Amino acid sequence: TFSARTGYVEVGKDNFCLPVYYEQNAEQVNNFEIHEDDVFICGHPKTGTTWCSEMVWLLVNNLNYEEAKKQVIHKRVFQIELSFLFNTEVYLKDEVTSLESMREIKRPRCIKTHFHWSLLPKQIQNGTKKPKMILTLRNPQDSCISLYHHSQMVENYSGTFEEFCTLFLAGRVCFGPFWKQVLSFWEQRERENILFITFKEMKDDLLAVIRKVSSFLGKTYTEEEIEKLAEHLSFQSMKKNPSVNLEKVIEENIKSGIATSTDPFIRSGQVGAFKSKMSPDMIKKFEEWNRENLIGTGLTLE
Ligand code: A3P
Repeated sequence: TFSARTGYVEVGKDNFCLPVYYEQNAEQVNNFEIHEDDVFICGHPKTGTTWCSEMVWLLVNNLNYEEAKKQVIHKRVFQIELSFLFNTEVYLKDEVTSLESMREIKRPRCIKTHFHWSLLPKQIQNGTKKPKMILTLRNPQDSCISLYHHSQMVENYSGTFEEFCTLFLAGRVCFGPFWKQVLSFWEQRERENILFITFKEMKDDLLAVIRKVSSFLGKTYTEEEIEKLAEHLSFQSMKKNPSVNLEKVIEENIKSGIATSTDPFIRSGQVGAFKSKMSPDMIKKFEEWNRENLIGTGLTLE
């Protein structure tokens, strides 16, 4: 099975694959109160959500690098589902803030979620509150490889890579099916309060992405400040930054036997690495699956 630790349930008509604890918390998420000045970072797991979170938190908080250094990312950018979907007692101990305590957080709040659009708090879905939302996109092949390593890091996954790809394509990995999650946001693209950014854009031209996100958030920074932020967000710099590289979590997981690999969280950070990591057969399967899911959507992801 994919997770020896938690197990998954199928939720909703699209059979979202969510940890077993989802159902008992669904109502609380649904009724979670939104503020207009909240900033949401949404995206399928492994599409660059942590990278985006660090950028957004700093842009929102006037580039307060001191504070960013002091607090780990999941204490600054709160993940709606983190405190109740996973067995956080084991790997995050007291570091996680519950949904309940998120009400007390200093505003503007930065909030992250991997949920499908239809599982978001109802004030967002019905448009009574319009917080700014940024969606991260990455091609599913690279996301799948990244999630495979992540699953070894936090979920004790011990199957083969081929098996993992098959589960991913079948939508049987956490927060899957991949395209259902992505397209549920893509369908909302006409809303003014949603901005899409891709992992590839961030790799190709981080300065341009910072400028775009900054202007979306209504912030003004000098070119010098933007360049400094790009440096802070570079792969090399994030890799050695304990506030974002989850080194403590991984260390705990290794100690308690949850990790089946010692890969770092900020691992390879590449676009298109799948071309040399997946078999030609698997690449074909993904191409076909992408084609089927993207027909008529106007979306492509390199
Ligand atoms: P890889 O496993 O392919 O390296 P998420 O935060 O959504 O879980 O995504 C994690 C992925 O983002 C990982 O991909 C990680 O290496 C990559 N990533 C994080 N910070 C990055 C950075 N500064 N530059 C490039 N990639 C980064």
